[in-house]
Order: sequence, then structure tokens, then C-alpha cells
Amino acid sequence: MDALYDRLGATYSATRREDPELARQIHTALGGARTLLNVGAGAGAYEPRDRAVLAVEPSAVMVAQRPADAAPAVLAAAERLPFADGSFDAAMALHTVHHWTDPAAGLGELRRVARRVVVVAGDADVIDRLWLTAEYFPGIAFGARRDVQPQAIAERLGGRTEILPLRVPVDCADGFPEAFLARPEAYLDPDVRRNMSVFRLLPDDRVAAGVARLRRDLASGVWDVRHGDLRRRSHLDTGLRIIVSDPA
Ligand SMILES: C[S@@+](CC[C@H](N)C(=O)[O-])C[C@H]1O[C@@H](n2cnc3c(N)ncnc32)[C@H](O)[C@@H]1O
Repeated sequence: MDALYDRLGATYSATRREDPELARQIHTALGGARTLLNVGAGAGAYEPRDRAVLAVEPSAVMVAQRPADAAPAVLAAAERLPFADGSFDAAMALHTVHHWTDPAAGLGELRRVARRVVVVAGDADVIDRLWLTAEYFPGIAFGARRDVQPQAIAERLGGRTEILPLRVPVDCADGFPEAFLARPEAYLDPDVRRNMSVFRLLPDDRVAAGVARLRRDLASGVWDVRHGDLRRRSHLDTGLRIIVSDPA
């Protein structure tokens, strides 16, 4: 159904896996919800094991990577959820809204089927200023599309909303594009880049040029002069936000 992740997702679980600290922040945002829908669920990262979870995922290639004991998954897309109004205590959508063909429709569906909605999405204004974006791969909004900025997501969901920064540990286990800002050598590894859609969707020559520049700046020490302080931090603001919406 979803050609993009059927094409991009074959090795996803090799580098994209749940980070325990991010899991705690996401589970806290879910509050006391006992029944939970995970939309754009992929291989099942961040699905709590102690609650009743149902996953929605349009790519069979991604569903195939769900562990045998993961929650059941329905092959469907966010824009048309096959559930009655108010079926779940909460719905979550993590690192996925920027991939939807119609984010406004999908967010409307989350609001329709669940009481609390929790979304993780990137703030393109912050992401555009990250060294990775500004200095090596200019013009790309990693994981963020201008029409799905956190504020726009909150407004579309409506009700009582809160936007919180996701505190990303510098040694984050989940290899999303912004996860390695303090470990720049990781971006030189094609296996790491393979599971970041932004690199797969960029023309090869732009990826190669940015990687060559980064390799040179790491070898010469220029990167460390400019950004080496990141290596000594415990957490980073990568621009990722948790958006929580409850009915008014
Ligand atoms: C970057 S992965 C995130 C997966 C998972 N949420 C995670 O945090 O690991 C994005 C996922 O969104 C899914 N996706 C793409 N378009 C979608 C849509 N219209 N509705 C629901 N999911 C979609 C993709 O198939 C893919 O599994």
C-alpha cells in the first residue's frame, strides 16, 4: 500500500530501535491511557508493553519487521482509520506525520478515534539551524515538513494542547536523522544513512557532497572546533517536539 516505506524500510530495524529515555517521555505523555492506537507504527518502537495496543501501518515491509510478540497491526493509513469514533483512550503518531499524503486528514482521524493524541514531530525552524542541516545538507528539513510544524499540528488537533521538547540523550539508541548530532562520524556510515528517509530521498550527488565535506572537517578537526562541545553534553534539543492534545 505505501510504496515509500515498502521501498525504504527493508533494513529499518537495524538502526531504528526504541531508546529507553525517549520511551519514558512518550509514555508519560500518554498519561493513564489503557487502550492505545499507534499510527504509522513501523516496527513497533515505543509501544508500551503494559497497555492494550493496536498498530496501524500501511507498509507490509514495515509490519514484517514487528517482533513476534508485538501488538497486532492493521494495514491501513492515517487518513482513513477503520475505527469508530472514540474507540481508544489515546492515539500516538511518532516520526510519521511528515510522510502522510494528507496530514490534516490524518490528524483529524486521530482526534476522531481517540481522546488523547500524542504526536512526535520536528520543528523545521530549529532543524534548519542544526549544524547537519545548515552546514552540510542545506535546504533539507530533517523529519519536518513546513506544513506539519508542531504548532500547526496542535492547531489541527485542537482542544487543550501542549508542545514539549523531546529531550534526546546524546547516545540515543534510535537512529533517526537528528540522533547523531554529537556523534557526527555516524553520518559517514551508509548503513546508518540508509534508514533515514531524508538521505534516501536526496539526490545522490548532494548526499555525497555533504558526506565528503563532513569527512574532511572531521579529519582536519574543523568540525570539533565548531561543534565539539556537543560531545560533552548529556542531552540535545534536536528540534523534535511532543505534541499532546486533549478534548477541550
Ligand atoms: C520513520 S517511520 C516511523 C515508524 C515508527 N513510528 C517509529 O517511531 O519507529 C515512518 C512510518 O510512517 C508510515 N507511514 C507513511 N505514510 C503513512 C500514512 N499515510 N499513514 C500512516 N503511516 C504512514 C511509514 O510506512 C513508516 O512506517
